Amino acid sequence: MFGTFLLVFLLFHMGANLFILVDDGGEAYSAFCHFMGTNKIVKIAEIMLFGCFLLHMCLATYLWICNRKTRPERYHQPSRTKTAKGSKLAMVTGSLLLVLLIFHFYDFYFVKLHFVKGSYMVKVEDFLVNDPTANISEEASITLTNAINDGKLSDDMKWMKNLTYSEKETLQKAFPDAEFEPDFYNMAREKFSHWHIVLCYLVFFFVVGLHIRHGFESAFQTFGLNHYKYSKLVEVLGIIYCWIVCLGFAIVPICVFFVL
Ligand code: HEM
Repeated sequence: MFGTFLLVFLLFHMGANLFILVDDGGEAYSAFCHFMGTNKIVKIAEIMLFGCFLLHMCLATYLWICNRKTRPERYHQPSRTKTAKGSKLAMVTGSLLLVLLIFHFYDFYFVKLHFVKGSYMVKVEDFLVNDPTANISEEASITLTNAINDGKLSDDMKWMKNLTYSEKETLQKAFPDAEFEPDFYNMAREKFSHWHIVLCYLVFFFVVGLHIRHGFESAFQTFGLNHYKYSKLVEVLGIIYCWIVCLGFAIVPICVFFVL
């Protein structure tokens, strides 16, 4: 049940990430991230997502422990049934996924929570009205001028992007009403310009694929849709889902590294 919610989330997250490949200076992806960061319904969904994560992990661990306690044959010889192998693999890939997910959060999500420093963006109309340097400190004025000279002002003059943490701090002091948010578009593009990060993310997606391969069939089972007549269909759908999600995720770092 909780895993099903996560499967839907993955498809959504993968689809949204494809905006990173749109060569529009981050307009589409940033608009999407802004929506994700400010919409109240999304915030509730995010809480539900983490609740599902937690419950999914607790339930999976509990069932795995119960299984081990009640399966006597493990004392004679290891079980070779498809289900036993599947749940054992799910336990291993699930644990690995948890570790990789923490690294992923360190890269992006923790920046939004202000646990980690990243790159930032701000809507220019929040502060660049009239003469922006009129009433601000010299330090802020220099920072602003340098940022403009470094090409951080978007072509349509709407956004100032790719600000460093210290630039953001200085400008935030000078313009306390302006809303600064993480610039995930430039962060993703910067991160995926390093081959070792691309490689780590490809391993991450591979582990995600292994884990959800098992999860997809379990999700159907949860809703009682595991009739033997449909088992082949569910298996094929599971394989298609896995490939779409994994390739959809993988295409982003690969294209950023090799093409963009
Ligand atoms: C190309 C690959 C990926 C990129 C560029 C990416 C990027 C991001 C970004 C920018 C955020 C913060 C979004 C926000 O909160 O506004 C985020 C959050 C998150 N990502 Fe990813 N992600 C990728 C792959 C994955 C994968 C494979 C998983 C799942 C196993 C995953 C799970 C999550 C979760 C659970 C969150 C926190 C919830 C949320 O904010 O939506 N991500 N990711």
